[in-house]
Amino acid sequence: VLPEKVTIIEVGPRDGLQNEDNFVDTETKKEFIGKLELAGILEMEITSFVSPKWVPQMRDAVSIVTSRPKGIRSIALVPNRKGMEKLLETDCKNIAVFVGVSDSFNRKNINKSTRNSMEELIPMIAGLKAKGFFVRACISTAFYCPYEGKVSIVDTVKLCSEFAAVGVDELSVADTIGMATPVESFILFSELKKELPFVMIAAHFHDTRKMALANIYASLQAGIDRFDSSAGGIGGCPFAPGSSGNVATEDVVYMLERMGIETGIDLDKLVDAIDVIAPHLSREIDSGYYRLSKVK
Ligand code: HMG
Ligand code: MG
Repeated sequence: VLPEKVTIIEVGPRDGLQNEDNFVDTETKKEFIGKLELAGILEMEITSFVSPKWVPQMRDAVSIVTSRPKGIRSIALVPNRKGMEKLLETDCKNIAVFVGVSDSFNRKNINKSTRNSMEELIPMIAGLKAKGFFVRACISTAFYCPYEGKVSIVDTVKLCSEFAAVGVDELSVADTIGMATPVESFILFSELKKELPFVMIAAHFHDTRKMALANIYASLQAGIDRFDSSAGGIGGCPFAPGSSGNVATEDVVYMLERMGIETGIDLDKLVDAIDVIAPHLSREIDSGYYRLSKVK
């Protein structure tokens, strides 16, 4: 049975923009975020506290967090303690940590082994939970790694379980390079639902090989009712060669609503939000819904 309602976690301002060649000015980002909220988004990754040398696009994280929408769950990503300390200087109480199942990917992305990242993150999360934070853990290369190939389902479930054991509120389980198939999506998410029934689980699909909607349909059948997506399908990870954007929020919303599954998101207003960011991007928006919205 499919769920009656699905929650979309909008990641465009973070995953979408981090890979952009041109620096998108801070005011435009804020307007984009504001319009996404107006479209009905209730949970959103808005920025990340990462090294400005590694990801210059996110260098305005403090300003973005300071003027974040307060009535929704606005989340900032951090890869390490230094990032957390910067977030703690603001009044934002929603945080996402990120780590790769694959060691090679984690080294390229965070300059540490997966184990070293976990040794830093686990006590950090325990402290944040004690302070009442909402904590999300983003699990990269849950299916495939750009350097190591197929990732073992056992390793992915084990890493997710370590986060669940320390009390994260949510896992966001990612197909970083868009290689998973619907069968693999169904198998991994069924296993995670069975092993970790007390933690929220979101699926995070990149649409590199145009399989994201099929994977979402398979994940719905595995009991997943939370999906990360980016308005306009923008983005990708700068440290995953060849990776492209997340599945487009408007295509996901269109599919779900047509299937009678409620998302609470207004497609016309979502198009308004994409209109704000589109002129500032180095690439064309190529989601089906957005393109059709421009056909007179
Ligand atoms: P490093 O060079 O190893 O850091 O980078 P370090 O600890 O050696 O410190 C070097 C300098 O960076 C120091 O400054 C630190 O203070 C500073 P200095 O003394 O030279 O002036 N520093 C920081 N500054 C700001 N924020 C921080 C921070 N940490 C240290 N948090 C580091 C290590 C983790 C910082 C770097 O590798 C980095 O920033 N990586 C971020 C990579 C990234 O943003 N990737 C994209 C997000 S993850 C993703 O997209 C995947 C996801 O979507 C799911 C999926 O699809 O798979 C979530
Ligand atoms: Mg991603």
